[in-house]
Amino acid sequence: MEWTRERRYRRLEEVSQEELFELERRVNHSLWRQTFHIQPKTGLLNDPNGFSYFNGEYHLFYQWFPLGPVHGLKYWYHVKSKDLVNWEDAGIGIKPGDYFDSHGAYSGSAIEHEGKLYLLYTGNTRDNDWGRNPYQCLAVMNREGEISKLPPVISEVPEGYTDHFRDPKIWKKDDQFFMVIGAQRSNETGCIVLYQSNDLLSWSFKGEMKTELPPFGYMWECPDYFELGDRGILVFSPQGIAPDGDLYQNIYQSGYLIGNPLDVENGLFSHGKFQELDRGFDFYAPQTMEDQKGRRILVGWVGLPEIDYPTDADGWAHCLSLPRELTEKNGKLLQNPVKELQELRKNEKGIEDILQDEGESYVGFTGTTYELTTEFQNHDAKTFGIEFRTGKNEKTIITYDTIEKKLVLDRTHSGISFATSYGTVRKCALDSKKIKLQMFVDVSSVEIFVNDGEEVFTSRIFPSQESQGIRFFATGGKVSFQAKKWELQ
Ligand code: FRU
Repeated sequence: MEWTRERRYRRLEEVSQEELFELERRVNHSLWRQTFHIQPKTGLLNDPNGFSYFNGEYHLFYQWFPLGPVHGLKYWYHVKSKDLVNWEDAGIGIKPGDYFDSHGAYSGSAIEHEGKLYLLYTGNTRDNDWGRNPYQCLAVMNREGEISKLPPVISEVPEGYTDHFRDPKIWKKDDQFFMVIGAQRSNETGCIVLYQSNDLLSWSFKGEMKTELPPFGYMWECPDYFELGDRGILVFSPQGIAPDGDLYQNIYQSGYLIGNPLDVENGLFSHGKFQELDRGFDFYAPQTMEDQKGRRILVGWVGLPEIDYPTDADGWAHCLSLPRELTEKNGKLLQNPVKELQELRKNEKGIEDILQDEGESYVGFTGTTYELTTEFQNHDAKTFGIEFRTGKNEKTIITYDTIEKKLVLDRTHSGISFATSYGTVRKCALDSKKIKLQMFVDVSSVEIFVNDGEEVFTSRIFPSQESQGIRFFATGGKVSFQAKKWELQ
């Protein structure tokens, strides 16, 4: 079936119950449904939106196209949780269709104000010639969880920028509200603009956020600014960055600048180099929030635009990442899975061994959904690591190359292949005697946290259900390691 414009912009109300049931049936038969990740019940999920803590619960919305695995008329879908682990379905959050969001309720953020949760998002509209006209829109959620739209707060793109103007992220400082918006300058370079408000309703344009980057891609999506201690951090997803050695291998990137706190009066932000947030194949458009415990937590989209995924054939695509707590250390963000995820652990297994030029599997170390932590040390091997989701002709490999001092994720033989024109190996420099890997494996994904959050590799993989093996290995010498594994339920 061809995804014509008409099909992509049908509203849910225009679709028959039979069609929806048939789609749900296909999705439910998919072999790749995840077990502990947020995923769409049908259709396509992309960016996390409106991530917040309100009225005793975490709220998380995501970009959703209900009718198939493509980008079309976007809704905000709402899930909520008391613990960041067990998520409750809260239904559609924002329905597009008004003059200011006729062609999609695009990405945005949330903030609590006067006992309500304010949702700021981009209303995507298209004119008869399919020209874009973005609005920055406001909706309010009360304590009962009812969401109502208010009139848009910004209806014009300021002079000097194109209609690629979206994804407001809001924060509050000293009784004032600020928001950053992802933008494209008229000369087709990406940037971020800044607005200020006292009441969330009327906003004044404060100009561009003045970073020290040279021209860096053609569009910056999903900006997010926050402070950790005395550091200012700007997260964004630039498009149009060419690969550079091991860096920027995916179609689009997401990363951060870290520096002095933003000077909101003149938009000045002085910072260090752009650093990628994730080293894996599938990660984009992350959003953060500060929770009631003062933690800065990040969730990303485990997927990328413009890439076909094997689940497309089953009528759905993508999931969200596990929530990660961010801390700052020596000019770098550390990302660790929130500790609440330990609630999922069942059936602990442990081993300790020394491997010398060999690979070994262990009783109880198998599965499709588990957490596995491994600490490798005392090595003189050339390489060592773990093969997982191994089967007849399949394996996904995480290797530490002690000569090159790089960690390497290889999904060449992970199962059904996809996006291969972007390569099947991802590498990142890592110079460390001790290598600690904390892996979360779900039916069709893996998230690998390295050395207590120094690096993360997030990727989809599509092995067959039978590929459940785990094998630890060393080549060209020996390594000792300890590992623990839990089933996750
Ligand atoms: C990023 C993005 C955003 C936009 C949304 C639309 O993936 O393109 O810039 O608001 O997705 O779904």
